[in-house]
Order: sequence, then structure tokens, then C-alpha cells
Amino acid sequence: MRTTLHEVKVKTQDRAVLVSLVTQKLKKREELNEYSLQELIKLAETAGVEVLETLVQNKESVDTKWFIGKGKVEELRERLETLDANTAIFDQELSGAQVRNLEAALDVKIIDRTQLILDIFAQRARTREGIIQVELAQLSYLLPRLSGHGKNLSRLGGGIGTRGPGESKLETDRRHIRGRIDDLKAQLFEVTRHRILHSERRKKSGVYQVALVGYTNAGKSTLLKQFTDADVYVENQLFATLDPTSRTMKLPSGKEIVLTDTVGFIQNLPHDLVAAFRATLEEVCEADLILHVVDSSAEMRLEHMRVVEEVLSELGAQGKEQITLFNKIDLCPPEELELLPMGGGDTMKLSAYNSEDLEKLKIIIQEKLMGDSIQFAIPVERGDMTALVYRIGDVLNTEVLDDKMLFEVRVNADDYAKLGYKLKEFVVGDEVTASEELE
Ligand code: GTP
Repeated sequence: MRTTLHEVKVKTQDRAVLVSLVTQKLKKREELNEYSLQELIKLAETAGVEVLETLVQNKESVDTKWFIGKGKVEELRERLETLDANTAIFDQELSGAQVRNLEAALDVKIIDRTQLILDIFAQRARTREGIIQVELAQLSYLLPRLSGHGKNLSRLGGGIGTRGPGESKLETDRRHIRGRIDDLKAQLFEVTRHRILHSERRKKSGVYQVALVGYTNAGKSTLLKQFTDADVYVENQLFATLDPTSRTMKLPSGKEIVLTDTVGFIQNLPHDLVAAFRATLEEVCEADLILHVVDSSAEMRLEHMRVVEEVLSELGAQGKEQITLFNKIDLCPPEELELLPMGGGDTMKLSAYNSEDLEKLKIIIQEKLMGDSIQFAIPVERGDMTALVYRIGDVLNTEVLDDKMLFEVRVNADDYAKLGYKLKEFVVGDEVTASEELE
């Protein structure tokens, strides 16, 4: 029987030394390197690894054979032995040959940042879509590195870097793995198709879609929970949420919208993962509004924002309506609050645990969403105009007022440009202009 990714349990406690290489090219961004290593520690702990020590090497450039310098490999071997570690985790991505060479020289499991993130995702995936996506990402990552893993998997038989495609599968040839990738892609296509159909149906019915995006641990799930009473997982750890969760939320006007929580982003998010999660992340592009949640108390918040913007632009969502939410201000010292980049676009400072802030945010979301909607007052006998109203966009609300029907419509820009002139005299709030025209 085939073991699915999330069923594979940790067999060995991983005891690791973490390694980072700072090349001349990376040196200019010193604080980023330090931060990246701190983040690697958190990632390793999230994956259930015991972190024993960190080792940093400053070196002109990457060593093609060993990644770090030969002398540093020797130092690493000595530290691994002294600390009785069974794993070395590298903060950067390694090639298949580097993994093989390091394994042979050090006799421990060699993991890189990408593999670590993939491993956490494998532990977290719950829905069928999530599970398929993670396995797809893992196989795409492993395929070019296949020969580097045979030995270490059979020897260590569990723990980080080994959850996912099982040992027997790794020993089969590349063709078999390619076959599995094709199979997973086909399954994914089916699963995603259902979800997309569902979300298109929602969209057609005129329900606004709002997506929460942000760096991991920014507070997205907390906001979803606060707004919708959703039974979601809120944890002070990285990647607590993996699968997108959508819930209905009520705006102050009483109108319902759909709020979706998405996977958290992180610097150097593995490319295979972004590719595999494309369908899920593309839901962000379909949203009417993006809420970009930032942890204001995080020292590297600007870097977090840059990473999120970068992924959004990779997904083609950079031009979307967006509100930047500087969350966790209760944890942010006042002098730091002053430094938040509040200018440019819509921004708000808040704490997800402050009910007044949440009420204000609801109003801001409402104004932002309704901003592009137009109200028409159509006399009841004008069935032709009522039909036209339905043609030019999504009717969000209807109301009867004396002998008129009030329609609130989110207009489609193209259709409105072509046909809108016929409705001009019925636009609410534009009556003066309409009558002026008639004069
Ligand atoms: P991922 O699932 O990793 O992407 O994280 P997330 O963005 O969904 O973050 P989550 O909502 O899980 O929150 C992370 C941690 O921050 C949790 O411990 C929350 O309780 C905490 N948190 C969220 N918002 C606030 C806030 O405004 N103030 C404080 N003090 N803590 C917050």
C-alpha cells in the first residue's frame, strides 16, 4: 500500500547543525543574512528538529563541489561528531552533487532550506489539493537530485527531508517519477477545477471575494477568525495555515462577502512550491480586494512586505486593489510605529485583538469594495432598463422605493463604457448632471 505524505511519521529525532554561507555577493546585505539564519532556526524547530548550533562561513563565492569551503567541511564534521548530530541543514539551496559529496564526507543527512520548507508543508497539508500540491513540489525538487538521496534515505529512514515520496519510490527510475508527476498534475487539475467552478459561481452571484495575504505569522488566520468565527488554526509558528480557508463575513451594511486566508509567504519561497501552489494562490488574483497583513512588530517587516509584493507580482496580482494592514501594533513600540510606511495606497494600523480596530477595518473594506459600484433608480415600468442593468455588471443589491427599483451594481468597465450612456439618467446621485444634459 502506498503511504501518503502526511501519514509518514518522524522516526528519528533530528539533531541538527545549521550552516550558512555568506558570499561576497550576499555580504552587502548583512542584516538579511543574519535574519535568514534566525528564520532557518525557526523553520527547523517548526519541522520538529532540535537545533544544536549554527555555523557561518564568509567566502568569496560558492564552492561547486562542497558548497562551503573544504576546510569548513572539516570543521563541520568535527562539530557534528562532538555534538552527536545526525543532520546538517544549509540555509541555501544545494545542488545534487553537493548533497552527495557532503553526505559522503560527513555521514549525516544533508538538508537545504527548500527541502525544509517542503517538509513543513508536507506535515501541514490537510486537504486533498494541498497534499497533491506538496507532493508535486517535492517530486519536482527531487527529480534533478534523485541520485543524491538513495543512501541517506535508506540509512536514516525518517525525519525531515524524508517525509513525502517514500523510500521505495525514490529508488525507482526518473521515468517512474515523471509518470507520478503527470498523474499528480492530472489529479490536481480535477480538484482545482471543482474549486474554481465553485468560486466562479460565487463571483457570478455578485459576492465580493477578499483575500488575506502576508508573510508567515503576520496574523492572517487571526483576522479570519475574528471576523468570521472560523474554526481556524492560529499558532505562533511558521506556516500554521497551508490550505486556503474561505468563510463568509458580514459587512456593516449587512452585505456578505467571502474572506479567504492563504498560505503565508517567506523569503526564498521554493520556486517548485510557488509553481505547485499556483492554482491556490491564483485565487488571490481573482479576489476583488487583497488585504496585505504585515506584522508591524517584526524587525524585518519591510523585507517581509517586499517578499509578499514580489510573490504577488509573480502571480500577476500586483495591480489589484489592496489595503496594507499593519497588524500587531500592540506589540510595536511607539517610536517604531512612527516608522511604518503609511503613505502611498490604503493603509491601516491595527491589532487583530482590538474590536474597535476591527470595526474600523470592516468600514474601510466596505468603502473600498463598494467604491466601484453604482446605484440606479429605474421606474418599475422600464423593464428594458432593468434588463440593461443586469447586462452591464453584477447586481449586488435591490430595493423597492415607491414606483422605482433601486439597483446597486458593480459595473463591468467594458460593458459600461459601451452601454452605460443609456442608463445615465437613472444613476442615483447623478440626477443633476442628467437633467442638466436634458436642458
Ligand atoms: P501563517 O499560517 O504562518 O501564515 O500565519 P498567520 O499569518 O495566519 O498568523 P496567525 O494568525 O496564525 O498569527 C500568528 C501569531 O500572531 C499568533 O500567535 C497570533 O495570536 C498572533 N497575533 C496575530 N495578530 C496579533 C495582534 O494583533 N497582536 C498580538 N499581540 N498578537 C497577534
